[in-house]
Amino acid sequence: IQVPLNQKNIILIGFMGAGKTTIGQLLAEKLGREFLDADQEIERRHGMPVTEIFKSMGEPVFRQMEKEYLVELCRTSREKVVSLGGGSFMQDEIRNACLDSGIVYHLDLDWESWLKRFEALIDTRPILQSKSLEEVRALFDSRKLIYADNHYTVAVDQLSPEEIAENMARQIR
Ligand code: S3P
Repeated sequence: IQVPLNQKNIILIGFMGAGKTTIGQLLAEKLGREFLDADQEIERRHGMPVTEIFKSMGEPVFRQMEKEYLVELCRTSREKVVSLGGGSFMQDEIRNACLDSGIVYHLDLDWESWLKRFEALIDTRPILQSKSLEEVRALFDSRKLIYADNHYTVAVDQLSPEEIAENMARQIR
């Protein structure tokens, strides 16, 4: 089904810590749209924090939950602002569903800026806990290629979340 442009969801992707949730919330307020954070919705549905889902059930179970939630959301929702998890776009079905139903924005930051955020992320991001810094860097680089493919890119290194959301809102309105 083709969704008219003004009814499309606004979908935010990017690496952990890029600011998807913060910017998404601000952007939704500015556009007068409803905001949804995929990880928070999965936590609510399953009554468990993402860290706990990873720990007790493993990553494949989390990826399945993520796919079920997001494919369904894309099929049934219009005009929302949705922040995805950093790994969501690695699943073809999620990527295709999002591209059908939404306009996708990649929140992009460089490795040096990201490193400054690392400490604040480690406790709540199981993906980071099981990897060396070299492995995280490799993941950062390989995912960036997928995030950047055919989506709008918004640089988040230099501006505050408020400024970024305002710039995006102006472009979308
Ligand atoms: C993940 C990112 C997290 C969360 C989960 C896995 C990833 O979301 O979905 O811990 O694989 O990059 P954020 O990008 O919101 O941190």
